[in-house]
Amino acid sequence: MRPKLIVGNWKMNGSRTVNAALLAEIAAGLKGAKASCAVCVPAPYLHQVEELLKGSSIAWGAQDVSAYEGGAYTGEVCAKMLGDFGCRYVIVGHSERRAYHGESSELVARKAMAVLKEGMSPIVCVGETLAQREAGQTVEVVGAQLGAVLELLPADAVEKIVVAYEPVWAIGTGKNATPAMAQEVHAALRGQLRSRNAEAAEGVAILYGGSMKPENARELLGQPDIDGGLIGGAALKAQDFLAIIHATQ
Ligand code: PGA
Repeated sequence: MRPKLIVGNWKMNGSRTVNAALLAEIAAGLKGAKASCAVCVPAPYLHQVEELLKGSSIAWGAQDVSAYEGGAYTGEVCAKMLGDFGCRYVIVGHSERRAYHGESSELVARKAMAVLKEGMSPIVCVGETLAQREAGQTVEVVGAQLGAVLELLPADAVEKIVVAYEPVWAIGTGKNATPAMAQEVHAALRGQLRSRNAEAAEGVAILYGGSMKPENARELLGQPDIDGGLIGGAALKAQDFLAIIHATQ
């Protein structure tokens, strides 16, 4: 069985005070947890989070990265900088970045490669809108999003990526995909990974994201191809995040 991975996506939330309290409460409640966990935090807090989590079992990461390696790109943060702060994961292609910042699947793929080049794991987000689901296009849409990454990804690097299936209509809405709906998409994504590297595909963590919370986590995480969660709102409440982590055993 694949180990479970629960990742908090803090989005644009937090402050030095709030972060310290949240992480202390999470760390205090982790005893006995079988799942691995990580938090992806706003870039300005990476130094603080590195200091607080160094030596703990909680990994950390960022929520976006530049596709460029460095230089004259005002406002951008490159993968090397994220690696410098001990990041293990970097979210790429979150639907909020695709929607509000016009990120194409090709750009997302380049960002994923930049992350891999620095020895970190990209968490590649894919997901359909409600209109696309209603039009029966879900597998085609997420397949094209993942396909853009697989096109650039060397076969021997497949094992290093994490995939997150996040239906856009489920993010922050309180409406989650049913376990069966999510499992169907996760199985299709794994099939696509297999076609790139059959052996590595079995080890790739495919996370579900979109209104995962303590009340629905156990059933979602019980599906054969759901290997964890990418958690937004519930990751900002220590007890909810912990309940999801403990729901994996
Ligand atoms: P949510 O967000 O858990 O608040 O729905 C998930 C995400 O956007 O990663």
